[in-house]
Parts: sequence; C-alpha cells; structure tokens
Amino acid sequence: MKTKTTTFFDLVRPDLLEVEARMRISPSQHHPSLDKVIDYLLSSGGKRIRPILVLLTSGMLGADRDESINLAASIEMLHTATLVHDDLIDGSKLRRGIPTLNAKWGPGATVLTGDYIFARAAHLASTIGSKELMEIYARTLMTIVNGEISQLFNTLIVDPQQEYYGRIYAKTASLFEVSTEGAAILSGSKGEVIKAMKSFGYHIGIAFQIVDDVLDFISEQEQVGKPVANDLRRGLITLPVLYYSEANPDGDKLIEELQQGEMDDQGIERLINAIRASDAIKQTLEQADRFVSAGEEMLDGMPATPQKEALHELAHYVVKRTI
Ligand code: IPE
Ligand code: IPE
Ligand code: MG
Ligand code: MG
Repeated sequence: MKTKTTTFFDLVRPDLLEVEARMRISPSQHHPSLDKVIDYLLSSGGKRIRPILVLLTSGMLGADRDESINLAASIEMLHTATLVHDDLIDGSKLRRGIPTLNAKWGPGATVLTGDYIFARAAHLASTIGSKELMEIYARTLMTIVNGEISQLFNTLIVDPQQEYYGRIYAKTASLFEVSTEGAAILSGSKGEVIKAMKSFGYHIGIAFQIVDDVLDFISEQEQVGKPVANDLRRGLITLPVLYYSEANPDGDKLIEELQQGEMDDQGIERLINAIRASDAIKQTLEQADRFVSAGEEMLDGMPATPQKEALHELAHYVVKRTI
C-alpha cells in the first residue's frame, strides 16, 4: 500500500521560505517604522494560502521558479495590505491573534502603512516584467476595492444571493483567481489551461469565503485569531443567514429588517443563536463543498504531478479548515 507522507504544505516549504524572505526585502532606506511594522504583520503568521496556490500551480505547469516566488510574495503582500485597511474599516482590534495596526495606531499611520504595503506588492509584481500579469493584477485590486466599497454602502438589494456571490467574488475569490491564473500565465501554458486554472482559483476562493462566513458564526475568537459573530452585527448578510431566512416563514421580513438596520442588539444575538442551532450551517457547508468539487474538475486535464495532488488536498482543506 502506498503511504502518503507529504501534505500540500511540505511540497512548497522551501519556496515558501523564499517567499517570506522576499516579502521582507526593503527596496530602499525608508522610515524604519515601515520595515518594523511589516515584520510585525508578517511574523504573526497567516495561512499563506494564496502563495501556496501560486507555487503549486507554477510547479504543476513548470513556470520559472524565481518569477513564481515573486508572484507569490506580491500576492501575499497585496492580501496583507487589504487586511490592514479592512481591519481599520471594520474597527477590528485583532488579526492572526495579535492586535491590529488600528488597535495600536491612529487611522493616519494605518492607512499610510497599508498604502506602502500595496506599493511594495506592486513593485514585487513589476519585477516579473509581464505586462499581461500587471494588467490582471491591477484589475484585481480595482475589483477588491470596488467590493469593499459596495459592502460599505447599503444599496438596495434586489437579489441577496446574487449580491452575496458578487461580493465574495470581489473581496476574496478574485485574489484566489489571480493566484492560479497568474501562475498559469507565467508557465506559458495554452489559453484553455490558463482558463481552467483561473476557474479553479475562482471556485476555491468562493468556497474559502463561504467557509469564512460559517466560521464567523460557529468559532471562537481564540481559535481563529480574529473577532467572530461580527458579520451580522455589522449588518453583513452572509449565506448562513440567507439559507436560514429561506427556511423561515418570516424570512423575507427578516432580511429586509437586517438590510434596513432595524434590528436591535438583542434581536441580532437571538438571530445568531438561532442560526447556529439551525440547519443553515450544514447547508452552507454543503454549498462550499459543491464549489470545491466544481473547482477540482478543472484539474482533470492537468499534468499528473505531486503538485496536482496537492492542489486537490488544498481544495479539501478549504472546507475542512477551522481557522
Ligand atoms: C482573511 O483571509 C480574509 C478573508 C478573505 C476571509 P485569510 O483567512 O487567508 O487570512 P490569513 O492570511 O490566513 O490571516
Ligand atoms: C476582508 O473581508 C477581506 C478583504 C479582502 C478586504 P472581511 O472583513 O469579511 O474579513 P475578515 O473577517 O475581517 O477576515
Ligand atoms: Mg474584516
Ligand atoms: Mg469575515
């Protein structure tokens, strides 16, 4: 019997160490607090799921190692910058188990640090020297920011499910998509391979955010290292809420009330507990499973390599994860 000893993480460990080093390279002598704060943010960990996606896709398709490492580092830096700004916008005091920048500093320094990390991310991407890649990279950043601003402004929502999927595409799946698409572009693969890997990233990214929205309901702050049960309190309607409302005779009224911000704190607490105890959580996870399966189908025609197996493993991890 074949025993399996490697995990998707083992396969990329050496390259990931190089990614960590490259994220810390400071291009010039800037204010020392910038390097210190980047070190603070990166040392607190994070799952590094996006760089792992880049490295596995690159390895599977035979992309240049050095370019892939730069792409992976650049995407993780972009992700880090969005978190710095997101935590300020959300008023979140904890990330990866440690205080956020906005918990320690004022908004001015936090915004500027986020901007600086965005610029470092773009600089890293530019060293690859691919115009095509820079194009989709810049577009993705526009998509993420557009998603965050749509989330901020409560516009009238006609179809909450459609709105939900659009929103999680923008804020999360778009960056997963560029991780796998970008790596496929670097490998010089044919158009259909690039398209299939883009779709893999999309599906895994959607599943990842659906699970994140479940974790917001069912986990403890100590476990995930960031505040939980927060989405509803911020007026954010996610898939567990939508499934819960579908099964509830007063569902439409419930969604309307939430959208209008008319529910008081006690009502929100009651609703959170009701959703936790309902079937909606299981249904939501089943939906995440469906996205993972659809994503895995995209791997069918890919070269049979250990990296391909690892991408399957990573796809399963996305729905099994507890942080
Ligand atoms: C957090 O992303 C923001 C979401 C898109 C849910 P991750 O869950 O990948 O965060 P880290 O990098 O592991 O901390
Ligand atoms: C953050 O979205 C995702 C971004 C990419 C900006 P959320 O606000 O839902 O994520 P968490 O829960 O803070 O990680
Ligand atoms: Mg947030
Ligand atoms: Mg969240």
